[in-house]
Amino acid sequence: MVGFKTVKDVSLKGKRVLLRADFNVPIEDGVVVGDFRLRQTLPTIEYILKQKPALLIIISHLGRPAGQPDNELSLRPVGKELARLLDKEIHFIADCVGEHTRKAIAELKPGSIALLENLRFHAGEENNDHNFAEALVEASAAEIFVQDGFGVVHRAHASTEAITNLMPSFGGLLLEKEVETIEDVIQNPARLLTAIIGGVKIDEKIGVLKRFIELADCVAVVGALANNFLVAKDIRIGKSVIEADKIDLAEEIIELAEKQARKRPFKLLIPVDGVVSTSTDGRKPTRIVELQTAVLADVEAYPRTPPAHSHTVAADELILDIGPMSASEIVGVIEVSRTVVWSGTAGMAEVKGLAGAAPPFAHASRLIAEAMIGGNGSPKSKPFSLVGGGDTTAYIESEGLAEEFSFVSTGGSASLELMSGKKLPGIESLKARQERVL
Ligand code: 3PG
Repeated sequence: MVGFKTVKDVSLKGKRVLLRADFNVPIEDGVVVGDFRLRQTLPTIEYILKQKPALLIIISHLGRPAGQPDNELSLRPVGKELARLLDKEIHFIADCVGEHTRKAIAELKPGSIALLENLRFHAGEENNDHNFAEALVEASAAEIFVQDGFGVVHRAHASTEAITNLMPSFGGLLLEKEVETIEDVIQNPARLLTAIIGGVKIDEKIGVLKRFIELADCVAVVGALANNFLVAKDIRIGKSVIEADKIDLAEEIIELAEKQARKRPFKLLIPVDGVVSTSTDGRKPTRIVELQTAVLADVEAYPRTPPAHSHTVAADELILDIGPMSASEIVGVIEVSRTVVWSGTAGMAEVKGLAGAAPPFAHASRLIAEAMIGGNGSPKSKPFSLVGGGDTTAYIESEGLAEEFSFVSTGGSASLELMSGKKLPGIESLKARQERVL
């Protein structure tokens, strides 16, 4: 029960439908280079078209143009890619409001599909401006609004909130699937439940970390996020990325985790080793440094006491991936888990290797991905695997693994905020609309 009505609850036949999608996708040289969000929106578009609406008018944002038109952030390339994916004509209209837009839409033949230009070319969009929402309705002459831009429902913008006050509003199929799946994992997970949380900014992950410390059986911190935890444990991290003023947040999380572990079986995993280098570009040598015990660091010399450099990140080095011992610890936990949530790669997975070599800082992310999709054990041990967050989705997409996961969210911050238990304005406004109608 998602708490809002969806496109399946309303007759769209002969109606002018305004669909808000999140087509904020990567574009290079005028070409869409990552179509995941487009493909995930296709079922909603196809469903709407099957109902024979008078018109389907699609709106979206792209990037952050700060309320000004910006050619680089035009949705035109998205229109082309969408037309290719749907195998249908898409009429691209060079603005989303105003007289020119109104006329262009009015001239469309019944049954047409239009994509309007980037909503964020107008400041009213991000200001959640009622007048801008009205201008959208006027230009499109829409009768029904469908919200399917899950990736943006954590924003209170004109096309996520204000517009729902102006006409009957419903959720799209993608929005419904995202909310249902994420809420189900949070409220009713098959156990053991493990969360693997990475990323760079600790304040973006603090909510989700706190929630999973309460809910999960194991939480593993990885990626640059883990550096904060290493520093909180007085471990030297060289010149690794760190938010020096946020160490108290990591300390708070460690304390919460210890409290939880006193009440029930619970484990917080902090990396025990790391892959380090003096540069992030993947061209300098890498080495593995043991971070927490200083015992196994020099495997060849074992059991002699290893030299200090084998368990110390030097001042000019950065930790760019978690090491093999940390990865195998996480893989072991995944193998006994029945639900695994992953947000944030374990290292800088996007860095390419030298001339065809494997990406130097993606090894742990690859091991995590394989374990989550059951590649390391019997298919029976395959957990329900949920991936959220922009960089993680981009990574598994680039590895061609997205179809192997149980669910890959199109949301970055939106999925994290929903997992954290926050109320998202774009969802709450649909629910409120419902209550007003009832
Ligand atoms: C995203 O990519 O996370 C969404 O499209 C939201 O974009 P925003 O962070 O610019 O609001």
